[in-house]
Amino acid sequence: VSSAQSFDSLSILRQNTSTDWARHAAQNWQQLLLDHANCEKKAASTALAFMFAYPEDRSLCQALARLAREELRHFEQVQKLLVQLKVPPSRLPPGRYAAGLRSCVATFEPLRKLDLLLCGALIEARSCERFATVAPLLAPPLQAFYSDLAISERRHAGLYLELARERFSAAVADGSFDARLTQMATKEAELIASPDPEFRFHSGVPPAALAA
Ligand SMILES: [Fe+2]
Ligand SMILES: [Fe+2]
Repeated sequence: VSSAQSFDSLSILRQNTSTDWARHAAQNWQQLLLDHANCEKKAASTALAFMFAYPEDRSLCQALARLAREELRHFEQVQKLLVQLKVPPSRLPPGRYAAGLRSCVATFEPLRKLDLLLCGALIEARSCERFATVAPLLAPPLQAFYSDLAISERRHAGLYLELARERFSAAVADGSFDARLTQMATKEAELIASPDPEFRFHSGVPPAALAA
């Protein structure tokens, strides 16, 4: 039982990261860190995309402007570590995770807004769970960094969930909120736990991890 499980916004996740993935990630920490840099950029750009999509929702824009800044700071910290640990720059195409989740998002409002907020909560919760799972397996500078990030990502998951619950209180009351969350969380767990040709921060289990 990882310490991550005591985090309450993590209870939305349907499946824990496998030890195969975690062991592979620790052994391939350079690629993990390179993909992690992309995740932080993507987290900032997701927050910005909300601000463009829902300008009428001022409190959401305010909260997510703040989040975008924090994610960009994380990106800068990752870049600094990449230099410090002498990881050569390299372009990593995205894995299947974000596109897989996006395939569940409704194309019509207001369900689209709910789905996007739930996706945000699930991605942040997963990031927290993965940081917490892999941190103890890593060497010093990354170990402390990932333990700290697990705490931030847990807070971000809570923020997206709270934004969703406030805006869709009728769905919370009639149970359709939880039903939708369960649907999306089931898809998320499938992407995380099934075999995946690519190794990424949010990937499933790569073939090399199973062969090891
Ligand atoms: Fe972050
Ligand atoms: Fe985050």
